[in-house]
Amino acid sequence: MCGIIGVTGLSDPLAAVLEGLELLEYRGYDSAGIVGVEASGQALWRVRAAEHGGSIDRLRAEADGGPGPLRACLGHTRWATHGAPSEENAHPHLDCSGRVAVVHNGIIENHRELAAELDRSGHKRTSATDTEILAHLVEAEIDAGADLAEAVRRCLLVLRGDFAVALVHAAEPDLIVAARRTSPLVVGTTASAGVVASDVAAALSTTRQLYALEDDQVAEVAPGRLLVRDLEGRRVEPARIDVAWSVERALKGGYPDFMSKEIHEQPRAAADTLLGRVSPGGATEIEELGLDEEELRATRRVLLVGCGSSYHACLVARHALERWAAVPAEAEIASELRYREPVLAEGTLAIAVSQSGETVDSLHAMREARRRGARVLALTNVVDSVMAREADGVLYTRAGPEVGVASTKSHVAQLVMLEAFALHLARARGTLREGEPGRLAGELLGLAASIGRVLEREEDYLSLGRRFSASENFYYLGRRLGLPVAMEGALKLKELAYVRAEAYPAGEMKHGPISLIEPGAVVVVVATRTPLWEKVMANVEEMRARGATVLGVADEGDEETARLLDGVLVVPPTSELVSPVVCVVPLQCFAYAVARARGNDVDRPRNLAKVVTVE
Ligand code: AGP
Repeated sequence: MCGIIGVTGLSDPLAAVLEGLELLEYRGYDSAGIVGVEASGQALWRVRAAEHGGSIDRLRAEADGGPGPLRACLGHTRWATHGAPSEENAHPHLDCSGRVAVVHNGIIENHRELAAELDRSGHKRTSATDTEILAHLVEAEIDAGADLAEAVRRCLLVLRGDFAVALVHAAEPDLIVAARRTSPLVVGTTASAGVVASDVAAALSTTRQLYALEDDQVAEVAPGRLLVRDLEGRRVEPARIDVAWSVERALKGGYPDFMSKEIHEQPRAAADTLLGRVSPGGATEIEELGLDEEELRATRRVLLVGCGSSYHACLVARHALERWAAVPAEAEIASELRYREPVLAEGTLAIAVSQSGETVDSLHAMREARRRGARVLALTNVVDSVMAREADGVLYTRAGPEVGVASTKSHVAQLVMLEAFALHLARARGTLREGEPGRLAGELLGLAASIGRVLEREEDYLSLGRRFSASENFYYLGRRLGLPVAMEGALKLKELAYVRAEAYPAGEMKHGPISLIEPGAVVVVVATRTPLWEKVMANVEEMRARGATVLGVADEGDEETARLLDGVLVVPPTSELVSPVVCVVPLQCFAYAVARARGNDVDRPRNLAKVVTVE
């Protein structure tokens, strides 16, 4: 999704913005641009590009031959929402005078009515974006006598929607003004520089002293100056962020791409996520939870919400919560919850699951759950993300920065964290038999080693993927805990390999979709030894009888299952409730191999964004 970086001061703010843009690339983008205030303070220099995968290189080339010394600079990566992905629609956008520039993440919802007013008063717009409106609104306020910060503050009063913005004005050459509502933005300053960024990583090379803006705060950022005001113009103290990781951890570390690096980081992600939270005897402690034992005991129902892979993690967690903590649990797609007027009974605990902590559908679902009386927890990988800050408590995964657009290690860390929480809740509610907490803790703590054993077989999974890389029709089947694993496997294949992959409950196939099965179809089934194994294998036979090739995730040493399948993705046996953590890994590798064999960019699949900040 869109990314913002702004740097002022330093000897070469343009170089710092280019470096920041490279760190923002992972979010996924279709165009990019830079603006800088020329040192004379009279004009802005701007360059934009809309070349899939190559826009930042174009900007760099233009910058090499380009401007003289610059003062405040802004950079932006855009993922089109309003207006096609083109150079005219790429940010930064300018006002009529060409002296005010704006970059923006999110959506200005009332842009049509604002545009109509601007058109009536003679402003000339040059793009189809909602963003450009703000440049003209600010221009009007400056013409009426406001400085840049005051103009932005006044404009915020009339804007509706979720956004983060950063602006420069040729008349105030060292100043960047930044503001946000819902979409995240951090700001920082030193004696010689100032920075604003949508991602902490992009800001780190300028300073580690960063502050998170709250909703409807306007910041003035210049070397040696950080002034934050609320919408009434009152000075406020911004919240300091504790940055515990470094940019280096976000680099590839010798792997061909971020995705394979991140697949290999999964044992660490699982181990780090459990560290200090689950101990071998079965004791649990979750530091940022924000709920004491009594409040946990008062939980009558758990509602899990998320999107994509995070939703699949919710589907797994539902089983663990019901079986261990004996609490009714439901999982729902975040974008659906908000619009169906859910009735949330007293005692509902809502858990919004989001790697980024920024996904706007999940954020709104979390807000809706709270509005309807639920206590809300955010489960996220990003410290101080919007959702983490708004929730009553947080379940942090510790997967480290995930750069590949396809979730791998963050998904595994979500599964592990949700199961650790289920154990924690079960202990508080006293729903486990004697000895069970210790046994379950042992299973959770053993997962990192099990994923390690899975990865020792990586080449088997990859070669199976390569073998089926020309196939066009995949069906992923599973039952009970196997179903969310199948859904996640199919999602990986779709997003990375651009191949049709339908995930279905194995028992449901005969109620319709089986009519699609014919020779050439490839079925991937989760066939580990659970109590439903026989039923799953009966479903496998139904597929084979109609000519499908059936591949399956099966337990190490299970010769019988291997004989009944056309290809096996072997995993070490684990108990059913923790098995998704282990079973999903071969399916990630399988999808990765199909995508690579088809020549696709696994880190930046087409049409996708890492962080989805629009509804
Ligand atoms: C997963 O591979 C996807 N890229 C996507 O489904 C993702 O899980 C979803 O957009 C939710 O993101 P979040 O966890 O950051 O909220």
